[in-house]
Amino acid sequence: MMELLRKRRSIRAFTPEPVAPETVDLLVEALLRAPSSRGKNPWEFVVVDDRELLEQLSRSKEHGSQFIKNAPLAIVVCADSTVSDVWVEDCSIAAILVQMAALSLGLGSCWAQMRKRRHDADSSAEEYIRKLLGLPEHIVVECIVGIGHPGEVKKTVPADKLQYGKVKRNRYS
Ligand SMILES: Cc1cc2nc3c(=O)[nH]c(=O)nc-3n(C[C@H](O)[C@H](O)[C@H](O)COP(=O)(O)O)c2cc1C
Repeated sequence: MMELLRKRRSIRAFTPEPVAPETVDLLVEALLRAPSSRGKNPWEFVVVDDRELLEQLSRSKEHGSQFIKNAPLAIVVCADSTVSDVWVEDCSIAAILVQMAALSLGLGSCWAQMRKRRHDADSSAEEYIRKLLGLPEHIVVECIVGIGHPGEVKKTVPADKLQYGKVKRNRYS
């Protein structure tokens, strides 16, 4: 795990190679193994590999979601917000776990934030995605994780660049 964490970077460029169905199954397993508060599992996921939908999802926001257009796979991380008051935390954990699982399987990925983001002046990113994917009203959207075979190489962050000053021992001051 430490080796994977040292390698982890956001990958926004992908080769056209699709993600194999058995790999998608492993990614789904990783999502469903995520811990959640009180084991309530409020998350729900939409696994998207349809090219037209991926292109439409890439237009969810004006900035920061375009990379999804070239991803062969995207996971829309949603939740039933009536099931848990901490669905944001639960969804975030599932999202980072699937990103780490993707990395362990030789794939690259990047998170695209949707919660609290606008699609345009008239609608939120969530409203846009709701229409596109047919999400019922009680389902909310946290983010989209774009996944694929890496089409870019990123340098790892060297240990001496880590912000150790942000870590306090025993007391803050
Ligand atoms: C909560 C969260 C939201 C993010 N939203 C976006 C986004 O909307 N679009 C994007 O391209 N990257 C997004 N990212 C990726 C960050 O930009 C990236 O993690 C950060 O710049 C550090 O780079 P690294 O992941 O390569 O270390 C997001 C990451 C997190 C954790």
